[in-house]
Amino acid sequence: MSPNVVEPDNSTALPMPMDLTSLFVPSMRGPQKSAFKSVMGNPTLAMINMAGGVPHPSTFPILQLRATVKSPGSTSTSSDRHSTLELEKSRRCQSTESLDELLQYGDGCGVDSYCAFLRRYTQRVHRPLYAEWGVIASCGNTDAIGKAVSLFCEPGDTILVERWTFPGALSSLAAARVKPVPVAMDGEGMLPEELDRTCRKWSGAAAPRAVYLVPTGQNPTGTTMSLARRKAIYAVAQKHNLAIIEDDPYYFLQLPLLVGTSNDATPDSLSDLQQQQQQQQKGALVPSLLSLDVDGRVIRLDSFSKVLAPNLRSGWITAPTYILDKLQILNESTILQPSGLSQGLISKLLNDTWGLDGWEAHLCELRAVYTYRRNLFIRAVDRHLSGLVEYTVPAAGMFLWMKLNLGHATADPAAMSQLLGSMKKFGVMMAPGMPFSSTGSVVDTAESGPAQPEHYLRAAFALVDIDMFEPALKRLAQAMAAVRAEHSQPLPDLVPATGIPSTVVDHSAITN
Ligand SMILES: Cc1ncc(COP(=O)(O)O)c(C=O)c1O
Repeated sequence: MSPNVVEPDNSTALPMPMDLTSLFVPSMRGPQKSAFKSVMGNPTLAMINMAGGVPHPSTFPILQLRATVKSPGSTSTSSDRHSTLELEKSRRCQSTESLDELLQYGDGCGVDSYCAFLRRYTQRVHRPLYAEWGVIASCGNTDAIGKAVSLFCEPGDTILVERWTFPGALSSLAAARVKPVPVAMDGEGMLPEELDRTCRKWSGAAAPRAVYLVPTGQNPTGTTMSLARRKAIYAVAQKHNLAIIEDDPYYFLQLPLLVGTSNDATPDSLSDLQQQQQQQQKGALVPSLLSLDVDGRVIRLDSFSKVLAPNLRSGWITAPTYILDKLQILNESTILQPSGLSQGLISKLLNDTWGLDGWEAHLCELRAVYTYRRNLFIRAVDRHLSGLVEYTVPAAGMFLWMKLNLGHATADPAAMSQLLGSMKKFGVMMAPGMPFSSTGSVVDTAESGPAQPEHYLRAAFALVDIDMFEPALKRLAQAMAAVRAEHSQPLPDLVPATGIPSTVVDHSAITN
């Protein structure tokens, strides 16, 4: 089965996507098929199919699956706000496949009812502007990034990325021996003029063919591109004929901005924020790059990790169907298909139990919860770290990216190691900037970049209890004070003229 094509009623009037095949690595350009399928072909109904190593479903021991789920949009754990969803062994339950089908081998596209929901939802939210697009299931964005990159890059190639970026993407690139080319950012993410300037440095076959970016609630910087920024980035991608890998796991966690962040401001109550979200519904979301994509050059990666649960390991990729055909083959040669059980649960929840409106109510609830947390956290930062940090209020996602003022210690390349040691002593942990650096250095590589190291911490306000915000930030302030006190005098010229050694920190624990 090929990836689902959008219903003809809304696609026939739309133009076909551009053909990006020339941007693919040579091994992806020709038609691909799994070796087995190319020998066997597809079975017809009349055939007695004895070809596959497929177990008989009567041997599957799971006879029924029943899950209790919250009502959409409810934070309540009380049982009167619950619904039950059920999957049956050999019987389809409304829209969703039977357990026997979900547990059986399938093709690399994903479970039909799961993909059908996501296609409808993509149409509702992003309204793609070209014909013949579809969705395919993924095991979440980490897996999807590697697959999308492998369409355009082979060992030795380059890919454009944000100056600070998701370490999982950097690991994927390192494993594929693809070199990240950093593009400078500001408070709205990647700078279009810097993207253009960077692209102009190349010509011919060596030029990067793709840009990887996180446009919403960027990890680690928390930045969100405005509509104008998205349009400008898209225009540069058109100018240099780049494919865009839009990694957007925080898209649905767009958080209305704080009106004021003064110390005495009372945080909005959670119930006010919930009401506000329900009124705004989806209208308030910044359009995705996919929704601006007239050419079909965006490969959009969505994940359920931040909006349902990370270890469902489920997401979806949206792109022109000829690109999804390639990704299907990549699925079939690696994972075969994401877990049918996870897809079945999600499909049942979204198709039948919550429905589209329930799903949107759930997303509104999440936005209210994270807005509440963000607001409380920012106000606590202002109370405890005034003068010690600079930040942009994140308009989406889970992260506050703080540029640290370490006083005279700032110029010391060892300052971050000292600070992390001090934070450990005072009992608080946040992620240092280094593992997110696409240059491998704390110093900007752009010619116009600063001459001395910059020190950053990424604080995630999603997980810890909100009454831990104040103690965490007090501890950070103490840890910073200790480092600053050790450097009460300006340092002798510690910074070498060329290249600054990286801070020595064990980053292996930071993967997301
Ligand atoms: C930008 C970005 N992309 C991808 C991921 C991983 O997503 P998934 O859990 O879907 O693999 C994360 C998670 O931290 C992320 O921040």
